[in-house]
Amino acid sequence: MTNKVALITGASRGLGKSMAVKLAEAGFKVVINYNSNHEKAEAIVQQIRNSGGEAVAISADVTSEEAVKKLVADSHEAFGQPIEILVNNATGPQPELSLEEVTWDDYLDQLHFTAKAPLLLLKEVMPSMKKNQWGRVINIGSEVVELGNPEFSNYVTAKSAVIGMTRSWANELGKYNITVNAVHPGFIPVERHGEVTEESASGYLRDVPLNRLGKPDEIANMVRFLASKEASFVTGQNINVNGGKTFGV
Ligand SMILES: NC(=O)c1ccc[n+]([C@@H]2O[C@H](COP(=O)([O-])OP(=O)(O)OC[C@H]3O[C@@H](n4cnc5c(N)ncnc54)[C@H](OP(=O)(O)O)[C@@H]3O)[C@@H](O)[C@H]2O)c1
Repeated sequence: MTNKVALITGASRGLGKSMAVKLAEAGFKVVINYNSNHEKAEAIVQQIRNSGGEAVAISADVTSEEAVKKLVADSHEAFGQPIEILVNNATGPQPELSLEEVTWDDYLDQLHFTAKAPLLLLKEVMPSMKKNQWGRVINIGSEVVELGNPEFSNYVTAKSAVIGMTRSWANELGKYNITVNAVHPGFIPVERHGEVTEESASGYLRDVPLNRLGKPDEIANMVRFLASKEASFVTGQNINVNGGKTFGV
Protein backbone atom coordinates (compact mmCIF):
# COMPACT_ATOMS: atom_id res chain seq x y z
CA MET A 1 0.00 0.00 0.00
CA THR A 2 3.05 2.28 -0.02
CA ASN A 3 3.39 5.04 -2.58
CA LYS A 4 -0.25 6.09 -2.46
CA VAL A 5 -1.08 9.66 -1.50
CA ALA A 6 -3.70 10.24 1.20
CA LEU A 7 -5.22 13.65 1.86
CA ILE A 8 -6.67 14.17 5.31
CA THR A 9 -8.57 17.41 5.72
CA GLY A 10 -8.33 19.11 9.11
CA ALA A 11 -5.29 17.13 10.20
CA SER A 12 -3.42 19.76 12.23
CA ARG A 13 -4.94 18.47 15.47
CA GLY A 14 -7.61 16.23 16.96
CA LEU A 15 -8.70 13.07 15.18
CA GLY A 16 -7.24 14.17 11.83
CA LYS A 17 -3.78 14.32 13.34
CA SER A 18 -4.03 10.70 14.52
CA MET A 19 -5.32 9.65 11.10
CA ALA A 20 -2.35 11.33 9.40
CA VAL A 21 0.15 9.64 11.70
CA LYS A 22 -1.49 6.20 11.34
CA LEU A 23 -1.69 6.44 7.56
CA ALA A 24 1.94 7.55 7.38
CA GLU A 25 2.92 4.58 9.59
CA ALA A 26 1.12 2.34 7.11
CA GLY A 27 3.28 3.74 4.31
CA PHE A 28 0.99 6.32 2.73
CA LYS A 29 2.34 9.70 1.69
CA VAL A 30 0.13 12.06 3.62
CA VAL A 31 -1.12 15.53 2.90
CA ILE A 32 -1.94 17.28 6.14
CA ASN A 33 -4.53 19.90 5.34
CA TYR A 34 -5.32 22.60 7.88
CA ASN A 35 -6.97 26.00 8.01
CA SER A 36 -4.71 28.31 10.01
CA ASN A 37 -2.67 26.29 12.50
CA HIS A 38 0.58 26.32 10.54
CA GLU A 39 2.87 25.48 13.45
CA LYS A 40 0.90 22.44 14.58
CA ALA A 41 0.58 21.12 11.03
CA GLU A 42 4.33 21.50 10.45
CA ALA A 43 5.06 19.77 13.77
CA ILE A 44 3.08 16.72 12.61
CA VAL A 45 4.94 16.72 9.29
CA GLN A 46 8.19 16.72 11.27
CA GLN A 47 6.98 13.93 13.56
CA ILE A 48 6.10 11.78 10.53
CA ARG A 49 9.38 12.52 8.74
CA ASN A 50 11.36 11.73 11.89
CA SER A 51 9.71 8.29 11.88
CA GLY A 52 10.67 7.72 8.26
CA GLY A 53 7.34 8.67 6.70
CA GLU A 54 6.46 11.19 4.01
CA ALA A 55 4.20 14.16 4.65
CA VAL A 56 3.49 17.72 3.60
CA ALA A 57 1.25 20.32 5.23
CA ILE A 58 -0.99 22.39 2.99
CA SER A 59 -3.23 25.15 4.25
CA ALA A 60 -6.61 25.51 2.53
CA ASP A 61 -10.15 26.42 3.50
CA VAL A 62 -11.91 23.29 2.29
CA THR A 63 -15.25 25.08 2.10
CA SER A 64 -13.90 27.28 -0.73
CA GLU A 65 -14.00 25.94 -4.29
CA GLU A 66 -10.95 27.93 -5.33
CA ALA A 67 -8.93 26.83 -2.29
CA VAL A 68 -9.84 23.17 -2.82
CA LYS A 69 -8.66 23.28 -6.43
CA LYS A 70 -5.36 24.77 -5.27
CA LEU A 71 -5.03 22.23 -2.43
CA VAL A 72 -5.34 19.30 -4.83
CA ALA A 73 -2.98 20.92 -7.37
CA ASP A 74 -0.40 21.72 -4.65
CA SER A 75 -0.62 18.18 -3.34
CA HIS A 76 0.01 16.81 -6.82
CA GLU A 77 3.00 19.10 -7.18
CA ALA A 78 4.41 18.08 -3.80
CA PHE A 79 4.30 14.34 -4.44
CA GLY A 80 4.20 14.20 -8.25
CA GLN A 81 1.21 11.86 -8.18
CA PRO A 82 -2.54 12.13 -7.60
CA ILE A 83 -4.48 11.73 -4.38
CA GLU A 84 -5.80 8.18 -4.11
CA ILE A 85 -7.24 8.33 -0.61
CA LEU A 86 -9.46 11.23 0.46
CA VAL A 87 -10.44 11.58 4.11
CA ASN A 88 -13.10 14.25 4.67
CA ASN A 89 -12.49 15.09 8.31
CA ALA A 90 -12.27 18.89 8.73
CA THR A 91 -14.76 20.61 10.96
CA GLY A 92 -15.32 24.16 12.15
CA PRO A 93 -16.83 25.37 15.44
CA GLN A 94 -19.83 23.31 16.55
CA PRO A 95 -22.07 25.54 18.69
CA GLU A 96 -24.84 23.86 20.68
CA LEU A 97 -28.01 25.85 19.96
CA SER A 98 -31.64 25.42 20.96
CA LEU A 99 -34.34 25.56 18.30
CA GLU A 100 -35.12 29.10 19.50
CA GLU A 101 -31.52 30.17 18.96
CA VAL A 102 -30.55 28.29 15.81
CA THR A 103 -30.83 29.90 12.37
CA TRP A 104 -30.63 28.58 8.83
CA ASP A 105 -27.16 30.07 8.59
CA ASP A 106 -26.12 27.92 11.56
CA TYR A 107 -27.30 24.87 9.62
CA LEU A 108 -25.39 26.05 6.55
CA ASP A 109 -22.23 26.62 8.61
CA GLN A 110 -22.21 22.90 9.42
CA LEU A 111 -23.31 21.74 5.96
CA HIS A 112 -20.35 23.57 4.46
CA PHE A 113 -18.13 21.02 6.24
CA THR A 114 -20.26 17.88 5.94
CA ALA A 115 -21.57 18.24 2.38
CA LYS A 116 -20.00 21.15 0.49
CA ALA A 117 -16.31 20.51 1.30
CA PRO A 118 -16.51 16.74 0.66
CA LEU A 119 -18.25 17.36 -2.66
CA LEU A 120 -15.72 19.98 -3.79
CA LEU A 121 -12.87 17.65 -2.86
CA LEU A 122 -14.41 14.58 -4.46
CA LYS A 123 -14.88 16.45 -7.74
CA GLU A 124 -11.19 17.36 -7.77
CA VAL A 125 -9.79 13.92 -6.95
CA MET A 126 -12.36 11.79 -8.80
CA PRO A 127 -11.02 12.14 -12.37
CA SER A 128 -7.65 10.54 -11.53
CA MET A 129 -9.28 7.90 -9.32
CA LYS A 130 -11.59 6.95 -12.20
CA LYS A 131 -8.72 6.89 -14.64
CA ASN A 132 -6.66 4.63 -12.36
CA GLN A 133 -9.68 2.50 -11.44
CA TRP A 134 -8.78 2.82 -7.77
CA GLY A 135 -9.78 5.16 -5.00
CA ARG A 136 -10.81 5.35 -1.37
CA VAL A 137 -13.08 8.03 0.05
CA ILE A 138 -13.62 8.09 3.79
CA ASN A 139 -16.13 10.55 5.23
CA ILE A 140 -16.07 11.36 8.92
CA GLY A 141 -19.56 11.58 10.40
CA SER A 142 -20.62 11.34 14.02
CA GLU A 143 -22.63 9.12 16.32
CA VAL A 144 -24.89 12.13 16.96
CA VAL A 145 -27.00 11.07 13.97
CA GLU A 146 -27.96 7.96 15.94
CA LEU A 147 -28.35 9.76 19.25
CA GLY A 148 -30.24 12.82 17.97
CA ASN A 149 -28.70 15.13 20.55
CA PRO A 150 -31.11 17.95 21.49
CA GLU A 151 -30.03 21.59 21.18
CA PHE A 152 -27.55 20.52 18.53
CA SER A 153 -29.78 20.18 15.47
CA ASN A 154 -27.41 22.26 13.33
CA TYR A 155 -24.65 19.67 13.73
CA VAL A 156 -26.90 16.59 13.90
CA THR A 157 -28.71 17.57 10.69
CA ALA A 158 -25.52 18.29 8.82
CA LYS A 159 -23.82 15.07 9.95
CA SER A 160 -26.94 13.12 8.87
CA ALA A 161 -26.13 14.12 5.30
CA VAL A 162 -22.95 12.07 5.51
CA ILE A 163 -24.92 8.82 5.71
CA GLY A 164 -26.92 9.17 2.50
CA MET A 165 -24.15 10.95 0.65
CA THR A 166 -21.77 8.07 1.40
CA ARG A 167 -24.26 5.48 0.10
CA SER A 168 -25.06 7.45 -3.04
CA TRP A 169 -21.40 8.07 -3.88
CA ALA A 170 -20.59 4.40 -3.26
CA ASN A 171 -23.32 3.31 -5.66
CA GLU A 172 -22.19 5.71 -8.36
CA LEU A 173 -18.45 5.12 -8.03
CA GLY A 174 -18.36 1.37 -7.41
CA LYS A 175 -17.92 0.59 -11.10
CA TYR A 176 -14.63 2.52 -11.04
CA ASN A 177 -13.35 0.50 -8.07
CA ILE A 178 -13.64 3.57 -5.85
CA THR A 179 -14.93 2.69 -2.39
CA VAL A 180 -16.76 5.21 -0.24
CA ASN A 181 -17.36 4.65 3.46
CA ALA A 182 -18.07 6.72 6.54
CA VAL A 183 -16.68 6.44 10.04
CA HIS A 184 -18.90 7.79 12.79
CA PRO A 185 -16.88 8.48 15.96
CA GLY A 186 -18.30 8.59 19.43
CA PHE A 187 -17.25 11.34 21.82
CA ILE A 188 -13.45 11.28 21.64
CA PRO A 189 -11.83 14.00 23.75
CA VAL A 190 -9.31 16.03 21.74
CA GLU A 191 -7.47 19.30 22.37
CA ARG A 192 -10.56 21.46 21.87
CA HIS A 193 -12.49 19.65 24.61
CA GLY A 194 -9.99 20.63 27.31
CA GLU A 195 -9.71 18.34 30.33
CA VAL A 196 -12.20 15.45 30.17
CA THR A 197 -12.12 12.61 32.68
CA GLU A 198 -14.12 9.38 32.81
CA GLU A 199 -15.75 10.92 35.88
CA SER A 200 -16.79 14.16 34.17
CA ALA A 201 -18.08 12.10 31.25
CA SER A 202 -19.98 9.63 33.44
CA GLY A 203 -23.37 10.71 32.06
CA TYR A 204 -22.21 9.99 28.52
CA LEU A 205 -20.57 6.72 29.54
CA ARG A 206 -23.77 5.33 31.08
CA ASP A 207 -24.84 4.01 27.66
CA VAL A 208 -21.41 2.98 26.39
CA PRO A 209 -21.18 -0.82 26.61
CA LEU A 210 -17.37 -0.70 26.70
CA ASN A 211 -17.70 1.74 29.60
CA ARG A 212 -14.86 4.07 28.69
CA LEU A 213 -14.02 6.97 26.41
CA GLY A 214 -12.45 6.26 23.05
CA LYS A 215 -9.06 7.48 21.90
CA PRO A 216 -8.19 9.29 18.64
CA ASP A 217 -6.06 6.33 17.55
CA GLU A 218 -9.11 4.07 17.72
CA ILE A 219 -10.84 6.20 15.09
CA ALA A 220 -7.63 6.41 13.06
CA ASN A 221 -7.31 2.60 13.09
CA MET A 222 -10.67 2.27 11.34
CA VAL A 223 -9.68 4.92 8.79
CA ARG A 224 -6.43 3.10 8.15
CA PHE A 225 -8.30 -0.16 7.62
CA LEU A 226 -10.76 1.42 5.16
CA ALA A 227 -7.82 2.93 3.24
CA SER A 228 -6.02 -0.40 3.05
CA LYS A 229 -6.14 -3.14 0.43
CA GLU A 230 -7.75 -5.39 3.04
CA ALA A 231 -10.90 -3.24 2.78
CA SER A 232 -11.26 -3.83 -0.96
CA PHE A 233 -14.82 -5.26 -0.73
CA VAL A 234 -16.21 -2.72 1.76
CA THR A 235 -18.18 0.19 0.35
CA GLY A 236 -21.23 2.30 1.14
CA GLN A 237 -20.92 1.52 4.84
CA ASN A 238 -21.53 3.77 7.83
CA ILE A 239 -19.44 2.42 10.67
CA ASN A 240 -19.87 3.60 14.26
CA VAL A 241 -16.67 3.59 16.29
CA ASN A 242 -18.09 4.53 19.65
CA GLY A 243 -17.71 1.69 22.12
CA GLY A 244 -21.16 0.45 21.12
CA LYS A 245 -23.19 3.43 22.36
CA THR A 246 -26.51 3.02 20.63
CA PHE A 247 -29.06 5.18 22.40
CA GLY A 248 -29.41 8.07 24.82
CA VAL A 249 -27.27 11.21 24.88
N1 LIG B 1 -13.75 14.57 18.64
C1 LIG B 1 -14.95 14.07 18.74
O1 LIG B 1 -15.46 13.79 19.84
C2 LIG B 1 -15.78 13.78 17.51
C3 LIG B 1 -16.94 13.02 17.64
C4 LIG B 1 -17.70 12.73 16.53
C5 LIG B 1 -17.31 13.20 15.29
N2 LIG B 1 -16.18 13.96 15.18
C6 LIG B 1 -15.81 14.41 13.84
O2 LIG B 1 -14.46 14.09 13.61
C7 LIG B 1 -13.85 15.09 12.79
C8 LIG B 1 -12.63 15.67 13.51
O3 LIG B 1 -13.07 16.26 14.71
P1 LIG B 1 -12.04 16.82 15.79
O4 LIG B 1 -12.74 16.78 17.08
O5 LIG B 1 -10.75 16.12 15.62
O6 LIG B 1 -11.90 18.36 15.30
P2 LIG B 1 -10.86 19.50 15.78
O7 LIG B 1 -9.94 18.99 16.80
O8 LIG B 1 -11.70 20.69 16.07
O9 LIG B 1 -9.99 19.78 14.45
C9 LIG B 1 -10.58 20.42 13.37
C10 LIG B 1 -9.61 20.42 12.21
O10 LIG B 1 -10.27 21.02 11.08
C11 LIG B 1 -9.45 22.07 10.58
N3 LIG B 1 -10.28 23.09 9.96
C12 LIG B 1 -11.15 23.97 10.53
N4 LIG B 1 -11.73 24.74 9.59
C13 LIG B 1 -11.20 24.35 8.41
C14 LIG B 1 -11.38 24.78 7.07
N5 LIG B 1 -12.25 25.76 6.76
N6 LIG B 1 -10.66 24.17 6.09
C15 LIG B 1 -9.77 23.18 6.40
N7 LIG B 1 -9.57 22.73 7.64
C16 LIG B 1 -10.28 23.31 8.62
C17 LIG B 1 -8.67 22.58 11.77
O11 LIG B 1 -7.52 23.29 11.30
P3 LIG B 1 -6.79 24.46 12.18
O12 LIG B 1 -6.08 23.73 13.29
O13 LIG B 1 -5.88 25.13 11.23
O14 LIG B 1 -7.90 25.34 12.69
C18 LIG B 1 -8.35 21.27 12.47
O15 LIG B 1 -7.26 20.63 11.85
C19 LIG B 1 -14.94 16.12 12.50
O16 LIG B 1 -15.56 15.81 11.28
C20 LIG B 1 -15.90 15.92 13.66
O17 LIG B 1 -17.21 16.35 13.35
C21 LIG B 1 -15.40 14.26 16.26
